[in-house]
Amino acid sequence: MVVTLDKIQELNKKLENRFRGKLIVNQDLKRTLVSFQANKKSPGYRWYKFKEGYSSALVDYALSQLNFKSGKIIDPFAGSGTSLFASAEHGLDAVGIELLPIGAEIIEVRKIIFESNNHNKLNKFLQKWIENKPWIGEKGGRKINHLNITDGAFPETTEDLLGKFLNAIDQVKNKNYRRILRFVLLCVLEEISFTRKDGQYLRWDYRSGRGYGGNKFNKGIIKGFNQAIIQKLQDILSDLKGEDVLFDFPKEPKEKTGNIEILKGSCLTILPNLKSDEFDFLMTSPPYCNRYDYTRTYALELALLDVDEKKIRDLRQDMMSCTVENKDKQNLDRLFSHSTFQKAGKAFEEQKELQAIIKYLEEKKNNKELNNPGIVRMVKNYFYETSLIIFESARILKKGAPFVMVNDNVRYAGANIPVDLILSDIAQKAGFDVEKIWVLPIGKGNSSQQMGAHGREELRKCVYVWRKL
Ligand SMILES: C[S@@+](CC[C@H](N)C(=O)[O-])C[C@H]1O[C@@H](n2cnc3c(N)ncnc32)[C@H](O)[C@@H]1O
Repeated sequence: MVVTLDKIQELNKKLENRFRGKLIVNQDLKRTLVSFQANKKSPGYRWYKFKEGYSSALVDYALSQLNFKSGKIIDPFAGSGTSLFASAEHGLDAVGIELLPIGAEIIEVRKIIFESNNHNKLNKFLQKWIENKPWIGEKGGRKINHLNITDGAFPETTEDLLGKFLNAIDQVKNKNYRRILRFVLLCVLEEISFTRKDGQYLRWDYRSGRGYGGNKFNKGIIKGFNQAIIQKLQDILSDLKGEDVLFDFPKEPKEKTGNIEILKGSCLTILPNLKSDEFDFLMTSPPYCNRYDYTRTYALELALLDVDEKKIRDLRQDMMSCTVENKDKQNLDRLFSHSTFQKAGKAFEEQKELQAIIKYLEEKKNNKELNNPGIVRMVKNYFYETSLIIFESARILKKGAPFVMVNDNVRYAGANIPVDLILSDIAQKAGFDVEKIWVLPIGKGNSSQQMGAHGREELRKCVYVWRKL
């Protein structure tokens, strides 16, 4: 039988009715809080603008709403480490898993700074770099190992200064300081480049001479190297000194802060190796099912971190499936225990609404009505992999532990995919109680293309609160 849009709407309505009492519009959850925006003025968090991150205030909010005061936290998609640092500031120990080297680097460097017991010495060191600008006197510059997709990303003078800056870093004796300085560079790469992170890919300014014929994209001001780097050094220094900020950094005296541990790699590989009943709280935001390709948008940073062509391709495939390029992951049955693998697979296969959507998209694909045929595989694998993660999370969480997830609903070929309800249904099978699904007051629209063809229907952006039974 052919699955029509009407059928999908009908199934979605039924699912919505099932969760009616749980879907709660939460006026506290402003868009700024659930995005990186609220971090823009927060000491520490504002250094590297991780656009896909949420704010530390959201973590504070979740901890306080769920009255969570002690225990160990985990974030399997740690990104720039917002959950980890916000929790540690409350004195909670936190473990993060992150696959992308830029995310892991941000966390590790912030951790070095966060845990340093000699901010005075670091402050003096940074102050000296601002005053002396040691890179300017360098004769030659170290070459950046560009990737195909980053070649030509910087104006010539910038590329030259960038190389000199790397040279100057090499001469610093203290290993941690070298890493901090490279981090400062990572923080400004986008603003000194011809590119802008644009979700699915890296967008090139017309001044680069790159891009398809007739490229007219103008990203606005492209900052000069010295201006950008000095500004960043000053911002960091000012946060470390506690100037111009709303609260101290770290918020509490050091003795009270929690410990942060970062596990580098895919959570699909790492979660199965963690002990059962180990964690008291999980807060996370996985990649959304929206085709955003982190390995492209973070390519400048990855190149600077010496990720080569092979490694970036591998990373792209190891990422949670959320782009049309992701292939089926081959070894999942070997990563997970037989029981988790079977149960998660069953929950995925038996999720009626999801299977109808997949069938609908398959038909669209066969009729060549899908703007990219890879969308079907992406949607399928997104939910399949997330099911495995949900089941594995249930295993590592203690009884009564909350699981908090931020995610967006999406729409393809006119079909609204209620990611929140589908995952909540799977979570129930995995042994969670769906306590509430906080809905942001105004949903998120979709691309104008979608709206034109199918009329505007708000897509929910939600924070799900589940609890391990
Ligand atoms: C929405 S972001 C998380 C942002 C984070 N909440 C923050 O505030 O910085 C999702 C993250 O998941 C990471 N990721 C994607 N696939 C992964 C995987 N298989 N294992 C671990 N991390 C993964 C991405 O690299 C990205 O950093």
